[in-house]
Amino acid sequence: MDTNKKKIVIVSNRLPVIIEEKNGKVEIKEGTGGLVTALAPVLRNRGGVWIGWPGSLFNKEVESLISSSAGNTGYQLKPVSLNSYEIEKYYHGFSNEIIWPLFHDLQSRCHFDPEFWQVYKDVNKKFAETIIKNITTDDYVWVHDYHLMNVSKELRFKIPEIKIGFFLHIPFPPLDIFLKLPWRQELLISLLEYDLIGFQTIRDRRNFIQCVRTLIKNVDVQGKGQVVSVQSGDRKIKVGHFPISIDYKFFTDKTATREVSDCAWFIHENISERQILLGIDRLDYTKGIVERLKAFEISLIKYPELIGKASFIQIVVPSRTRINEYISLRSQIEETVGNINGRFTKYGWVPVYYIFGYLDFYELLAYYKSAEIAVITPLKDGMNLVAKEYCACNLDDIGVLILSEFAGASAQLQRGAIMVNPYDVVQVSDAIYKAFKMSDDEKRSRMRKMRQGIKKQDIFWWVDTFLQAAFTENLDNFPVLEPYDYISQIEISN
Ligand code: G6P
Repeated sequence: MDTNKKKIVIVSNRLPVIIEEKNGKVEIKEGTGGLVTALAPVLRNRGGVWIGWPGSLFNKEVESLISSSAGNTGYQLKPVSLNSYEIEKYYHGFSNEIIWPLFHDLQSRCHFDPEFWQVYKDVNKKFAETIIKNITTDDYVWVHDYHLMNVSKELRFKIPEIKIGFFLHIPFPPLDIFLKLPWRQELLISLLEYDLIGFQTIRDRRNFIQCVRTLIKNVDVQGKGQVVSVQSGDRKIKVGHFPISIDYKFFTDKTATREVSDCAWFIHENISERQILLGIDRLDYTKGIVERLKAFEISLIKYPELIGKASFIQIVVPSRTRINEYISLRSQIEETVGNINGRFTKYGWVPVYYIFGYLDFYELLAYYKSAEIAVITPLKDGMNLVAKEYCACNLDDIGVLILSEFAGASAQLQRGAIMVNPYDVVQVSDAIYKAFKMSDDEKRSRMRKMRQGIKKQDIFWWVDTFLQAAFTENLDNFPVLEPYDYISQIEISN
């Protein structure tokens, strides 16, 4: 069968829709994330299906709205409904209290409850059953992210010949950390039931291969380049790295609109004659928000020249608000902001502006456009698309990006960004001062490099590359990322 015609079935924890109840009436809208933007045209062209959890607000009415929405989206949506017990153990429990912290190297935050693992497997089986009802053996199934690593096992068992790909959006941890997982071997065996496994960076791929070599008998890894092949028993699995990106053109076009310019003008007017430092994150302990605020505080002490001349805008988007770790993180952030403002605020100047909530899209772009410096310092991150969005919106090439060595994006952006170790708050404070003093020429030359790279390898490039790797027979022909596009070794900044 012509692979360009193959029907694609996307499977992710969440369906790409927003379901809201307004004045007692349920409304359904297509989601706006980068993944939907990139995959929707592929699904439309090939008559695809997207399978996922519609969220907690699910009943007969929502079900019929979802099934009739194919007319608007151009592809079908198939919901997997979860009861509150499953949501608790599979989503909050196994996915977000074991895999999420462990894969971000934060093992002490893990809650290794055996019941979580059992329900995770049951829910993954439920996803596999919905997939089976909606495919033929000719279709290509592309499963996304850490919530669904076990789907392959169930699917392969029922349909041995089915072709399945998997992309992990978060990091894959080093061997010593992965070994802590009580179900480490079972999980790896399931992953090896996929035909193609994609990671964000070469670092993640290396970690995965090291874990496979250690925990699975008789594996052989062949090839070099962007995609290698792993022979395990009679199965041959392709394993590659595919750095995800954004719809660059959409971001630049929207930033050029009047609406965004007006909003950006108001933001700067309120903080006039000052450089704005910006942090935008989902509420998450992996994002290094408290460490970053402390680094800003140190920079105010170490470099008094910043007082009155630099303000930090920290935007935090609510997330996973039922998990205790997230609840206490919010208090910690708010206490830190309060301490800094209480200590340093003086007439006419506030050091930290703090927003906890959702921004509308134009407002978000206006913040990107108006900030002189973006401080993106996650303790570990699969990619971090905020870094790429900030660059895309920097139409005059004059912003500075301070970026964590441990964000996946650093592999592509390290030649333009000021690289930091987010745990080293003194180094981050020095980076803030360096960005504050940087000449316009240096800013332009750094930002141009980053924007060119993001433009070239945007979200559409990411989808094409993954699907090419999925359908190619001969990996020697597979386009390898050029060395200047992708640096496999992070250059350490000391
Ligand atoms: C990360 C994950 C996504 C997830 C998102 C939001 O980016 O890789 O799969 O959807 O966080 O988290 P949530 O728990 O709200 O889905």
